[in-house]
Amino acid sequence: MSNASNQPLDGEVYYPDPSIVANANVRDWEALAKFAHDDLEGFWAQRAEELEWFRRWDKVLDDSNKPFYKWFVGGKTNIVHNALDRHLKTWRKNKLALIWESEDGRDHRTYSYFSVNREVNKWANLIKAMGVQKGDRVTIYLPRIPEIVFAMLACAKIGAVHSVVFAGFSVDALQGRIEDSQSKLVITADGSWVNGKIFELKKIVDEAVKRCPSVENIIVVKRTGHEVNIDPARDHWFHALAALPIASGKCPTEPLDAEDPLYILYTSGSTGKPKAILHTHGGYMVGVYTTLKYVFDIKDEDRWWCTADPGWVTGHSYLVYGPMLNGATSFMFEGGPTYPYPNRWWQCVERYGITILYTAPTAIRGLMRFGEAWPNKHDLSSLRLLGSVGEPINPEAWKWYHRVIGKGRCPIMDTWWQTETGMFMITPTPVVPLKPGSGTRPFFGQEAEILDEQGNPVPDGEEGYLVLKRPWPAMLRTIYGDDERYVRQYWSKYPGKYLAGDSARRDKDGYFWIIGRTDDVIKVSGHRLGTAEIESALVSHPAVAEAAAIGLPHEVKGNAIHAFVLLRAGHTGSLELAEELRQHVSQHLGPIAKPDEIKFVDKLPKTRSGKIMRRVLKARALGLPEGDTTTLEE
Ligand code: PRX
Repeated sequence: MSNASNQPLDGEVYYPDPSIVANANVRDWEALAKFAHDDLEGFWAQRAEELEWFRRWDKVLDDSNKPFYKWFVGGKTNIVHNALDRHLKTWRKNKLALIWESEDGRDHRTYSYFSVNREVNKWANLIKAMGVQKGDRVTIYLPRIPEIVFAMLACAKIGAVHSVVFAGFSVDALQGRIEDSQSKLVITADGSWVNGKIFELKKIVDEAVKRCPSVENIIVVKRTGHEVNIDPARDHWFHALAALPIASGKCPTEPLDAEDPLYILYTSGSTGKPKAILHTHGGYMVGVYTTLKYVFDIKDEDRWWCTADPGWVTGHSYLVYGPMLNGATSFMFEGGPTYPYPNRWWQCVERYGITILYTAPTAIRGLMRFGEAWPNKHDLSSLRLLGSVGEPINPEAWKWYHRVIGKGRCPIMDTWWQTETGMFMITPTPVVPLKPGSGTRPFFGQEAEILDEQGNPVPDGEEGYLVLKRPWPAMLRTIYGDDERYVRQYWSKYPGKYLAGDSARRDKDGYFWIIGRTDDVIKVSGHRLGTAEIESALVSHPAVAEAAAIGLPHEVKGNAIHAFVLLRAGHTGSLELAEELRQHVSQHLGPIAKPDEIKFVDKLPKTRSGKIMRRVLKARALGLPEGDTTTLEE
């Protein structure tokens, strides 16, 4: 395990600038890596000591009931105490925590740590008044506006468990997630702005809760101001509630056990319905705090911008919790990169003096298509570090990002991780040499391996299943309500090792190269979608008997959804019907899941036991060999 920063590496390598190394939070990579490798608990205990605890833990890692690992056992804390309360005792009370700009650029809001705390207290008082107690689930379905941050922190503050649903999902997805979590309260907005148009969030909620009897109250934030249905017995405008005396005053931060649940976040798995990934207060807090500090080198002078939506894990860990745990100033932008023009992001970088930008390869590839003139119109000299997440970044996009956006000065942190891991797992730090397209090596304390079907490590350079070998503090604790599935999904293929669900290679320098998912998950523009969800949306259309969805390579989105549809008797395929089905998926599951292409077929390749062989469909579509088809029914 050497730092390798002074040794020549194979392939195209970008060595770190000595001035960056000299000032980085990770000055001595090698010493930290050795410490964490030799003394995993000692390393994480030292990180946890940088934060505040109401009661110190008795044991850092309890692995007596694998794979149900526990961290900081006996410790008492609350992530909000460290993200917020702790800063109010220092000069950071007056520091900007959040800068926000609306999609149309006409609205700007800024919040100091002091004012974020005031807003969070308001929300927490109201959520409590709605009868939400410690351990209760609250579904949050909001656009990228500051209220989503306040609502999440307010839940955590009182020990309620938030379940954020990405506001690009629609009725079926939302309903399934509310139902599974049995939320009593839903927090939403009248609508969100998407490229100048209103996306009707409240209407979708109304539809979804028809089949969710657990929901007692709905809080509605006014964002778009258009007419929406308000049921006086159930729906409450936030601005009206906030004016009530009950909203004012401090709400105490609940002291919680380190292992008390913080949130659930639904993510698509290999089969069936989305899984509720459970994260807890203590370990998650230490994990995201540490990774952001070391990997993105967060300092007080920085202005951090994570472009992710809070509806995905990247938003949870590195837009909401991570920056505030580090007392950082974060920028949050309501809109997307190209509306109304493809310089929208670069305008924001310039306007707010962003120093660190963390985004997804799909955005980079999309922006590349518009050419260099757009970013070149703007002063991007404030940037010092760049980041990438969500899917593999192709070397061309990496180099464009490095040259055109980072002007060759800014190292790119290509962070590999998952909803399940909660924090970066395979990632560079600013002091290690980079290879475009590789996330370099595992984070401190972690070890990864590439295995074949039988569980033997494959030789360097060969593709196999990516596994993680050591526990980490921000690891998922279980699938909420389904311990058995947790064990089966992640810990059964190779007992004792965490199965990531990705295929990857390791090169002879020990650098990891992620290839893509090995299961029925499709990464579309970095969004994680399950084939099962798309298929069940298609099958809910009266003309459809059976459907199969696969991902095929797409230049910008990484993958595009292609669906194969078998129609019911009496229906015939047509361009109109294909378009109708695409709209149907968009309305039921969400615009992000709309198939790019629909093909009508008279037969789907299946195993003798009736399972659709998506692998065969994919091979056929790409003109590749079909591989082992001995189980094929045809
Ligand atoms: O396939 C990997 C891909 O995203 C998956 C996890 O998706 P999700 O849970 O939605 O979390 C995304 C944000 C952390 C992984 O299994 N992935 C994520 N980051 C990278 C990546 N693939 C390649 N390189 C990355 N940096």
